[in-house]
Amino acid sequence: MSTEPDPKSAGRTLSIIVPTFREAANIAPLAERIAAALSGTGIEWELLLVDDDSDDGGEAVAAELGQRLPVRMVTRRDVPRDLSLAVIEGIRQCRFDRLVVMDADLSHPPERIVDLLAALETDCDMIIGSRYSPGGTVDKSWSLYRVLNSQLATWLARPLVKCADPMSGFFATRRGALPDLRTLRPMGYKIALELMVRGRLRVREIPIDFRDRSVGFSKMNWRQQLRFLRHLSRLYNYKFGSLARVPFFSAVGASGLLVDLACYLGLQWVGVEHRLARFLSFWPAVGWNWALNRGLTFSERARQPHLGQLARFMASSLVGLAVNVGSYALLTSYVDLFDRHRLLAFFCGVGLGSIVNFLVADLYVYGRRPETDR
Ligand code: GDD
Ligand code: MN
Repeated sequence: MSTEPDPKSAGRTLSIIVPTFREAANIAPLAERIAAALSGTGIEWELLLVDDDSDDGGEAVAAELGQRLPVRMVTRRDVPRDLSLAVIEGIRQCRFDRLVVMDADLSHPPERIVDLLAALETDCDMIIGSRYSPGGTVDKSWSLYRVLNSQLATWLARPLVKCADPMSGFFATRRGALPDLRTLRPMGYKIALELMVRGRLRVREIPIDFRDRSVGFSKMNWRQQLRFLRHLSRLYNYKFGSLARVPFFSAVGASGLLVDLACYLGLQWVGVEHRLARFLSFWPAVGWNWALNRGLTFSERARQPHLGQLARFMASSLVGLAVNVGSYALLTSYVDLFDRHRLLAFFCGVGLGSIVNFLVADLYVYGRRPETDR
C-alpha cells in the first residue's frame, strides 16, 4: 500500500500534528476536545503526537487513547529536542494531505480547527490561527514583559512575511503546498515562519483566542529566544542574501560598544589609569563581538576552531580600527570641510572601519562557504 496521501479524499481527511514535550497530563483532554470538535463533520482524522522522549508516561496515555480514538504517538530518540524538527517529523509520518499543527497544552482552541479548514478552501496555502489580527486575543494574564517580548519577535519577522502573527504555532496547510522538507533548516519554535518563508506560501489568518496553559509548564526559555534570533538570521540570509547580515553585524557592533564603555569605566573605577583602561577595554569588547557574530550573524557557516577564529577576528578588528582612526586623521588633515566638522569625520571613520570589518569577517574570519550559507 502506498503511503502517499490520497488527494481525492483530501477534503474529508485531516492529520493533526502536535509536538509534545512533557505533556502527559494534557494529551487526553486535548484528544477529547478534538474528537468533540470534529464529531459530526464527517472528517476522517488522526492525531499524531510527536514526542521528544519525555519519559513522563505520555506514551502509555497515548496508547490507551489509541484504543478508542485515532491517536498515536511517535517518539524521537537520541536527537536534540526541538519543536520544529518534531513537527517536520510529524509531517513526514502523517497519513493525510491536509494538516493542522497545534500545541498540546490547549492554548489553541480545538474548536477552531474547522474554521481553519474552511479558510484553507480559499486560494491560499496556509491558514494561521492568529492572536494579532482583528478579533484575536491573548490571555489576559500575560505580563507586560511577555506582551512586549511577543511584539518584538513579531516585529523582527515583519520584513520576512506579510502576516500579523507569524509566531503562531497554530495553523492549517496542505502537505502538497509545502516545500521539500529536506530544504528546511528551522531551529526552535517557529516552524510556521520557516514554512512560510522558504515555501513562499500564500498565507491568510483567522483570529483566535489564545489561552494560557493550565497544566504543566512552558518550555520557552532564554535559550529558545536565542535560537529564535539565530533562526531569524538564517531566514533573513535566505531571503535577502549576505546583505541581510549587515543589520545583525551592526547590532552586534553597537552592543560591543557598550561592553567597551562598561569595561573602560569599570577599570578606571578600580583604579586603572585612563589610557591603559582605554587600551584594555577594547579586547573584551572584541571578544564579545566575535562570539555574537559567530553565534548569530554567521551562525549557519561551518564551524571553525574557536581560538584561531578569535585571533583572526581580533586581527581584523585592529585593521578596522586602523582604517577608522586613519581615515579620521586623513580627512581632518587634508579636507577642510571635515576639519571644520570633525564629528562628520568621526562618523565617516566609524563607517569605513565597520565596512572593512564586515568584509573581512564575511570573507575571511567566518569563512565563505556558499553551500552552507542558506
Ligand atoms: N517534541 C517537542 N520538542 N515538543 C516541544 C518542545 C520540544 O523540544 N518544546 C515544546 N514543545 C511542545 C510543547 O509540549 C507544546 O505542546 C508546544 O510545543 C508549545 O510549547 P510551550 O512550551 O507550551 O510553548 P509556549 O506556550 O511558550 O509557546 C507557544 O506560543 C508561542 C507564541 O507565544 C507556541 O505555540 C509557540 O509556537 C508560539 O510561538
Ligand atoms: Mn504553551
